[in-house]
Amino acid sequence: MDRVTRALIHLDDSSGIVGDALQELIDLYAHAFEQAPPANPRTLASRLIAAQFDDPGCIMHTDHGLLHQMSRRRTSAAPSPIRHVRPTLSRMTSNALHRALTLPGDPVLRPLPRQVAFLLEELQAPPRLAAHLRAVHDVAHQLVDWAEQHYPQLDFDRHAVLFGAATHDIGKILHPEELSWPGSTHEVAGHDLLIARGVTEGLARFARNHASWNAPGISTDDLLVSVADKVWKGKRVTDLEQLLIDRLSEAGHQRTWEAFVALDDVLDHIAQDAERRLAFQAGHPVAPGIG
Ligand SMILES: [Fe+2]
Repeated sequence: MDRVTRALIHLDDSSGIVGDALQELIDLYAHAFEQAPPANPRTLASRLIAAQFDDPGCIMHTDHGLLHQMSRRRTSAAPSPIRHVRPTLSRMTSNALHRALTLPGDPVLRPLPRQVAFLLEELQAPPRLAAHLRAVHDVAHQLVDWAEQHYPQLDFDRHAVLFGAATHDIGKILHPEELSWPGSTHEVAGHDLLIARGVTEGLARFARNHASWNAPGISTDDLLVSVADKVWKGKRVTDLEQLLIDRLSEAGHQRTWEAFVALDDVLDHIAQDAERRLAFQAGHPVAPGIG
């Protein structure tokens, strides 16, 4: 299931055919559990843990799965042993998030800015989101290091770019389904979440803008975050990169093709680790848990 979800990242599933087929598989799997629920609540709990940590996201996103079984049992007259498992699950969940935030990764990924890591822990972010933010933040770091070295006159705010990369998908805490399926509801939600947490508009805007590079008023900072959010997984987007090439050629007093070659080289280099970053992200569960 996880491999299929990862493959979706590379697929053009604009028709929704693959997504629909996958959802059918998920529903079928969940239905099988409904038809033959384990009699022993301990077995149910251990299956839930395995489902969450081995096949992250596949069960938790359906109304017919183990969560449904659990809620039925919890409302029954007899006290449910599940109640005693919940603190354990909660602890495992926060451990999973902690691992996503602190494991070095391969390639080694820089840690998120401390205030962002604290915020993700406070909000009990899905571990996979934390892993994704680390991957994109690390790539943004490589990009700004490169830009500072080769285009010292390029006008951008290093701190803002890194904060933006580290928080751009934070709205997926509120819309976790968009960790597994395409969707843009998380964009405005992420911006509003950051504003509600006291983040300035200048830094919160990345959560809303990271997929809107053709919108008027988009800054070089926005373009750097958007490019990082693509190239971390090896995806190259011509029109997005062209916008950045224009800024680079202007800042570096180069012809367009010269800036193109320079950017192409660095993105190609960064993309070489895409598979390993994808594996790192996929190794962390989608579901934040039930605690
Ligand atoms: Fe992203």
